Formats: sequence, structure tokens, C-alpha cells
Amino acid sequence: MSRDRRPRLGPDPALGLTDAEFAAMAQRIHRETGIVIGTAKRNMLIARLAHRLRDLALPDFAAYMRLLDSPGGEAERRALVSAITTNVTRFYREPHHFAALAELAPGLSARARSGARIRLWSAGCSTGQEAYSIAATLLDHDPTLDSRDLRILATDIDAEVIETARRGVYDRRSIGPETPPTLHRFLRDGPQDHQVITAPKLRALIRFETLNLLDEWPFHGQFDIIFCRNVVIYFDPETRHALWRRIAGRLVEEGRLFLGHSERMDSRLDPLFAPCGVTQYRRTGIAAPPDPGQILPGNLAVAAPPSATRTTPCPFAIP
Ligand SMILES: C[S@@+](CC[C@H](N)C(=O)[O-])C[C@H]1O[C@@H](n2cnc3c(N)ncnc32)[C@H](O)[C@@H]1O
Repeated sequence: MSRDRRPRLGPDPALGLTDAEFAAMAQRIHRETGIVIGTAKRNMLIARLAHRLRDLALPDFAAYMRLLDSPGGEAERRALVSAITTNVTRFYREPHHFAALAELAPGLSARARSGARIRLWSAGCSTGQEAYSIAATLLDHDPTLDSRDLRILATDIDAEVIETARRGVYDRRSIGPETPPTLHRFLRDGPQDHQVITAPKLRALIRFETLNLLDEWPFHGQFDIIFCRNVVIYFDPETRHALWRRIAGRLVEEGRLFLGHSERMDSRLDPLFAPCGVTQYRRTGIAAPPDPGQILPGNLAVAAPPSATRTTPCPFAIP
């Protein structure tokens, strides 16, 4: 088959994607998000983007890519990020991390009560259940924490999931068996019978914002605890390494980093992170290298087309 012949792939053959278009799309996604789309994921990419082409009444991927590259394509560049990210999450996912957090809670609470500034970050928070689970775990230990200087930042590259997280409305059936009964103290009846909504006390602790982790981070302070779980699994090893190195610079000494169940710290970063539990790492006292400000996956930044996520400055800062 010639490289330019449109292969009949995916759920809708009329939307055929040439090899060159696939390579360009995969490169764009990698550059903007760090996510690697290998050839094995070609049909997955077609399936996810076919919906966008249909909604936009575009005839083929060539037209879609022209739209992405056009000055008016910003909304679609955001929609592309939403379409290709995997947002699976749930309350108290990987419960051992919340057990570890509960063990750290007395120390955090004591420091907060003595006036210390405590910051936690759910980096790659998806629809918010991780951040709400963090807040519920801490408030369960000390119900006064919402009156202290303790805040949780929760960010994701995908603006759609951040909107869902801010609403805090979830289907009752999505609350799985690993969820402790205490969570229900922080949930109220939602707008519909099958829904719950998170209580104001939980929301008061959390700030949800859109942020590409590869971009500059619009805050300067450090965090006591960072959850960055099931985010880098689709990144290439160098992007993953660069992100964790940046994270090291934002964790206080003795601070904790929680990774997802299939993620393991890069051994090159051993001096900065000491393992201290299942996919849990303690920040050592070794100084982290300076933050480069931005991560450019695979050095593909040359001649970058306009980007919704890499060119828009983030409009928030952590107090
Ligand atoms: C599978 S979810 C994980 C959610 C939650 N941390 C958990 O473990 O349940 C991965 C999230 O990472 C986000 N993500 C992927 N690439 C990102 C990037 N470059 N910057 C910020 N978030 C990103 C996705 O949008 C997605 O919501």
C-alpha cells in the first residue's frame, strides 16, 4: 500500500487516516501532552477522533488537522486533549495511599494548628474524586482543618474534567466498595436521585484548575504531599523523568509523592526520592536541579503549530 493511500481503518472507513496524517497527529499529541500514541493505538485514535469529525461535519482527518492548525482552532485543540486523555478515576482509588495519608494526617494537622502553611497537590486529578478523597481523609482526622492554612490544589490538562470536578456531582453507582463509609458524611443528595454532590466543607479545601504539567507552573511554593497517579503511564520515559524531577523541586524535604499502581520511580532520581511504601516516595534532603520551566517531549518543539495548552498562560497562582 502506498503511504498516501487512505487506508480503510477504524469504525468509519470514510474518515480514513493516512500514515503521514497519523504520524503528524501522534507528534502533535506527544508534543502538547507528553502522551505517546504508538502505531498499536492507531485505531483507538481514529475511534476517539471520529466523534469530533462527525460533530464538526468534517469530511476527513486532513480537514480536521487544518482546523487544529488554524488561528480559530483553539476550542478544537482543547477538545482534542479531552478526546485523547484517559480520565478513569474513582473515590479512594488505590486505598493504601489514603491509609498512608491518614497516618500522615496527625502530623499535618498539628502543623496546621500551629499556623503552618500546608499544601497538597492532586496533579492529573481527572474528574476530582482523588482530590475529594484527600480532603475527606484529612477532615475525617481533623474536622477543623478547613479553618487552617491547608489547601489542596487539583489540576488536569483536560478542561472538561475540571468542570466536572468543580461541579462535584457524581453518580451514586460510581462510589465503589473501596470507599470508606466516612466519605458519605461529606456527600449530599445531588440534583437527581441517582446523584450525590460533595459537601461545601470538602470543596472549601480544594482549588480545581486546568494545567498542563508540561507547561510552566504558575505558582512558586512547595507542597507537603503530591499525588501524581496514573498520569505518566502514557508518557515516554524522558518526559516522565523530567516531570518527576520538576516535582522533586516542589516537594518539601520529607514530603511525599504518590504514584499510580503501574508506575515506579526512575532509578536516576534515587538520590531525590526514597521509597517508603507501595508506590510511595519520601523526598530526601538532596537539592533538586533547577526547574526548566517547560518540558518539551522529544525536543519536538521546533515549528510548533498553535496550541491550546502550550501557549495559553495559566491564569492562577497558589496563595
Ligand atoms: C487516568 S487519569 C488519573 C486520575 C487520578 N490521578 C487517579 O489516579 O485516579 C489521568 C489524568 O491525567 C491527565 N493528564 C494527562 N496528561 C496530562 C498532562 N500533560 N498534564 C496534566 N494532566 C494530564 C488526563 O487528562 C487524565 O485526567
